[in-house]
Amino acid sequence: MNNLVLKPVNSAVIIGSSSGIANAIVDELIEDVDIEQIITISQNENSNLSGNHGNDINHVHKVCNYSAQSIANVCQDLSSIKGYLVKVFICNGRLHSVNTEDETAISPEKRLEEINPESMQALFHSNAIVPMLWLQQLATVVNSKQNCVISVLSARVGSISDNHLGGWYSYRASKAALNMLLKTTAIEYARRAKNVKLIAFHPGTTDTELSKPFQANVPEGKLFTAGFVAKQLMKTHQQLVFDCKAEFLDWQGKTINW
Ligand SMILES: NC(=O)c1ccc[n+]([C@@H]2O[C@H](COP(=O)([O-])OP(=O)(O)OC[C@H]3O[C@@H](n4cnc5c(N)ncnc54)[C@H](OP(=O)(O)O)[C@@H]3O)[C@@H](O)[C@H]2O)c1
Repeated sequence: MNNLVLKPVNSAVIIGSSSGIANAIVDELIEDVDIEQIITISQNENSNLSGNHGNDINHVHKVCNYSAQSIANVCQDLSSIKGYLVKVFICNGRLHSVNTEDETAISPEKRLEEINPESMQALFHSNAIVPMLWLQQLATVVNSKQNCVISVLSARVGSISDNHLGGWYSYRASKAALNMLLKTTAIEYARRAKNVKLIAFHPGTTDTELSKPFQANVPEGKLFTAGFVAKQLMKTHQQLVFDCKAEFLDWQGKTINW
């Protein structure tokens, strides 16, 4: 049921819910008997949730334009279910885009000559600043006695120690910035929201709009479905220890060096 009213029941929040991976996460959450309410948040009016999921899970969709004020407003609404947030997924992330009225096309840089400050700024905004604004505003919403996992979709290319190939300057650097912001947030959450476990999750190359232009060179068997990745993410949740430390995990649940 798509509803406007938040209920005080065990809830999962999916931010950037139009993402291919987010959609598959929602499918997993619908099957999770511990989750009674799903809150999807997107810049799009439509939630992409069919409503035909055959159980009585409460579904609330909120529209957010990702400005600081809009994120604060959504989190203000979420504060009515403080104590009931079990899982939060932050899926925002861009790698390329087409020409629009507001922005010229973005594509990952292969060489220094392709660096463009506007594109770089746009990717930093979507990939690092927007997730950080969510972590900022969620701090007072998630802190409670209820354990809560915040999974932020990162990428292995954001690992500084794993950078052997180069290229993709803006995407790589924005994900590295995201990882640093997560580690730093975990240190503050350790004082202010000890019940929260923060993970930076690398899904592997997944068949979504984001990876479409780059799928040709993916080795056989290494292009995952979003459904597979969402299942793997849920599995990693089962092994987590609530130790107030941020972890960088891949789709196998293996640690990636920062
Ligand atoms: N697919 C892969 O191979 C792969 C690999 C490694 C990491 N990842 C990461 O996984 C996450 C999900 O990606 P996906 O593959 O599911 O891609 P996708 O389907 O293209 O989803 C794009 C995501 O970015 C959000 N978004 C779009 N424009 C934005 C903007 N201007 N500011 C902030 N957020 C914006 C969308 O939210 P709305 O619902 O609001 O539009 C949506 O959550 C991303 O963080 C991505 O970097 C993906």
